[in-house]
Amino acid sequence: MDIKTVGVVGAGQMGNGIAHVMALAGYDVLLNDISEESLNKALSLIDKNLERQVSREKISEDERAIALGRIKTTTALPDLGPTDLIIEAATERETVKAAIFEDLLPHLKPETILTSNTSSISITRLASRTDRPERFMGFHFMNPVPVMQLVELIRGIATDEPTYNACLKVVESLGKTAASAEDFPGFIVNRILMPMINEAVYTLYEGVGSVKSIDESMKLGANHPMGPLELADFIGLDTCLAIMNVLHDGLADTKYRPCPLLTKYVEAGWLGRKSKRGFYDYR
Ligand code: CAA
Repeated sequence: MDIKTVGVVGAGQMGNGIAHVMALAGYDVLLNDISEESLNKALSLIDKNLERQVSREKISEDERAIALGRIKTTTALPDLGPTDLIIEAATERETVKAAIFEDLLPHLKPETILTSNTSSISITRLASRTDRPERFMGFHFMNPVPVMQLVELIRGIATDEPTYNACLKVVESLGKTAASAEDFPGFIVNRILMPMINEAVYTLYEGVGSVKSIDESMKLGANHPMGPLELADFIGLDTCLAIMNVLHDGLADTKYRPCPLLTKYVEAGWLGRKSKRGFYDYR
């Protein structure tokens, strides 16, 4: 399976980062979203992040221009028909993801590989609703995509070896490292990271420390690049809560109980950086 063209569904935080690294690695990218406005926003963000890499001498001006030229956008899902690999990076809701695959399927070549950038939803379940569960897998990037080295590759129960190997080759061509994970709630990274973030929220909730002291403790005491509350704001508190709920429901253990304070922030619409308010105020 020789992958040359990649269809990225969803132009948000993850989708635009994925389009960025794919184009830089030489793939022709077709980026899809439901509105022209989000596509334009994504393109200008990609441009800004490529520019940042030029200014830090990570890439040349020519590489930036060529990468940008490789990204085409469309609001019509059927346009993704001729692509070799689909990376779905839409909202972290199973109904939304399932509907996207359902709409896409009639337009795809039979050999096209389907993947999802889901951070916790069952790959096996998503795959079972398509016509090609053996050519379906999890392709999970970390945020910010252009910077983070890891991609989790998650096999569903039916994923075949040629599909896994084709995706592994793509990860390697990006200069990133793949971690192979089995299809259980949260896979590897979020199974470990989210309970830590949730515990940081409990630490705040129980008054053990302030936002500042919790974050500073983990930065200076455990050498984390960001404190857990700052990182939660960066990821999105709604995403953190959704992942905790997947761990709690899927593993049926009270140790994954989302902190009531996390739930309250999400109910208030305090979702972190994207809503300009979370554990920190970005207004
Ligand atoms: N595009 C391109 N380059 C970017 C970038 C972007 N979006 N964001 C940052 N960079 C680059 C900067 O240009 C800089 O490059 P140099 O090293 O060449 O100077 C480098 O990244 C570091 O950036 P900054 O100097 O601006 O800031 P920093 O040193 O504070 O680092 C950070 C920022 C990389 C985000 C760092 O704080 C960090 O690693 N934080 C933790 C991030 C993390 O844990 N991510 C995983 C989240 S979990 C997840 O994603 C999974 C999930 O499903 C929820």
